[in-house]
Amino acid sequence: MDENTIKWNFDEIIDRKCYGTIKWKPEFLKRWLKYEDLLPLWVADMDFRAPKAITDAMIKRINHGIFGYTLPEEDFYQATIDWFQRRHNWIIQRDWFVYTPGIVSAICNLVLAFSKPGDKIIIQEPVYYPFKESIKNNGRRALVNPLKLIDDHYEMDFEDLEKKIKDPRAKILILCSPHNPIARIWQREELIKLGNICIKNNILVISDEIHCDLIFPGFKHIPFASLSEEFAQNSVTCTAGSKTFNIAGLQTSNIIIPEPVKRQIFVNQMERLSLTFPGIFGAIALKTAYNECEDWLDAAMVYIKRNYEFLKNLFKKDYMG
Ligand SMILES: Cc1ncc(COP(=O)(O)O)c(C=O)c1O
Repeated sequence: MDENTIKWNFDEIIDRKCYGTIKWKPEFLKRWLKYEDLLPLWVADMDFRAPKAITDAMIKRINHGIFGYTLPEEDFYQATIDWFQRRHNWIIQRDWFVYTPGIVSAICNLVLAFSKPGDKIIIQEPVYYPFKESIKNNGRRALVNPLKLIDDHYEMDFEDLEKKIKDPRAKILILCSPHNPIARIWQREELIKLGNICIKNNILVISDEIHCDLIFPGFKHIPFASLSEEFAQNSVTCTAGSKTFNIAGLQTSNIIIPEPVKRQIFVNQMERLSLTFPGIFGAIALKTAYNECEDWLDAAMVYIKRNYEFLKNLFKKDYMG
C-alpha cells in the first residue's frame, strides 16, 4: 500500500446498504440490473468516504445547533472561484452564480426557461439518460445528434449536427463535458467547432461539467465558457463538487451564467418554483472541499486510475483472450 492509500484509507470497505443509499438499494439493483448480486457500478458515486475536512466542517456546523433558513456566505463563492481559476484556468465572476439544489433539476429548469413546449433540444447520445428525460418530461422533444464510434473512441458528428441544428424548433444543445458515459474529454478544437455552429444557428449551449474534476493525470478539462467571450455569453455551465468529493446527496450545485439577461430568466424560473434555498450543509461541504481537499482528490484519482488499469487488464485477460 502506498502512502496515500494509507493516509486516506481508500481501501476501507464501508457498508453502504443503509441510510437508503440508492446505489446499493436492492430494489434499484433489481430494477436496473435485474440481479441483486452484481456490483452496482450503475450510479456515479464513489464508495470512498468523503474527505475528513468535510465531515469535520459539517460536525462543527451541527454543533452550532440551529438550522434556520440560510444562504451561503461570500467565502463559499470565493472558494468556487479560486478552484476554477486554479484547476481549470477559468475566471468566474461573483455575479455569474446561481446557487441550485443539483444539476439535473437545474437542467430541467433551464429547459423550461429557455424553450417552449414542442421545441427541440439537441443531445449527443449515448449520453447521461436524465438529459432526455428532462426534455421529454417537460413537453419538449429530443433532437439526437449521435456520437460516432471510430475505432476505440467516440467523436462528435459535426456534419449531422449542422443539418439537424437548422430545424427551426431547435433551441438548446446540452453538452456533456467531460462526456458521460463515453469518458471523452473534449478537445479545444472540438469545443470551438461545436460552439461556433451553435452561435451561427442561435442555439444556447448548456454545458454540464459535473465531471470536470475527475480527470486522470496528464489530461486537461477545458470549460466551454472559458474559450471565448462569445461562448461565455451564449452558454450556461453546470458545476458541482458532487462527483469530485462524493457529496452528491448534499444536493448542491453552481450554475454559471455570464450573460445577465439569461441569468435573470433562469433566476425567475427558479423563483417561480421557490427553489432558492438549497440545504445548509451542501455549501459548507463544497466550500471546505474546494479550499481544503485538493490533495485528497489528487490521491483519489491516482487510486482510481490503478483500479481502472486493473479492470482493463482483467477484461483483456479473462474476456478478450
Ligand atoms: C453528466 C451528469 N450530470 C449530472 C449528474 C447528476 O447531478 P445532480 O446529482 O447534481 O443532479 C450526473 C450524475 O451521474 C451526471 O453524470
